[in-house]
Amino acid sequence: MIRIAIDGPSGSGKSTLAKAVARELGIIYVDTGALYRTVGYYVFTRGIDPRDELAVKAILPEMHIKLQYGEGGQRVILNGEDLGDKIRLPEMSMYASFVSSLPSVRAFLLEMQKSLARENSVVMDGRDIGTVIIPDADLKIFLTASNETRAHRRTLELKAKGIDVKYEDVLADMIERDNNDKNRDVAPAIAAEDAIIFDNSTKSVEDSVCEIVRLLNERK
Ligand code: DC
Repeated sequence: MIRIAIDGPSGSGKSTLAKAVARELGIIYVDTGALYRTVGYYVFTRGIDPRDELAVKAILPEMHIKLQYGEGGQRVILNGEDLGDKIRLPEMSMYASFVSSLPSVRAFLLEMQKSLARENSVVMDGRDIGTVIIPDADLKIFLTASNETRAHRRTLELKAKGIDVKYEDVLADMIERDNNDKNRDVAPAIAAEDAIIFDNSTKSVEDSVCEIVRLLNERK
């Protein structure tokens, strides 16, 4: 079994790198942000304030989330519906950030993530993978990149999906979201003590993958 945790703020390049590492090693890539986005999406469709813990907690039992892995990567199925890219819209990012600070939401999603990592070889990315979900991971990476680099990447990513956004709005949203994620009481988005801090502003994906595989072999 191989278990790799990749944490870091939004736009730090986690998903690109985690996907490439998973492909190189022939194991699955688990995008845990998609789970918080799914809760955010459902809260949004129900017209609930994502900061209202009691209201959010009350609707959690209505949600049946399944993750499926195949050729196209990870798919999230909510109550039988494949959500596709609906959870990628900028409003959903903010809803996801708000609901992710609620202890009941984190508790709701905890076992699903832990059991995935127990039963499969995984590269898992998120904010608390090295600290909470896989504290005994074979390798923990905390990715960083400058705010501008991250906002620039996120803008390109959204535009490529046909979502019309402005760089300035993406940057402002990202800074607000990072602050929420870092300063929350439960599972704040911080590096585990034994994580390797990895700045990938300037490295190519290929170089980063090689470096991670080398670090993994060193530790295994
Ligand atoms: O990685 P992302 O942008 O898709 O994540 C969406 C939100 O979910 C983000 O604001 C932080 C939160 N999140 C979290 O709290 N813990 C995780 N393991 C993954 C994401």
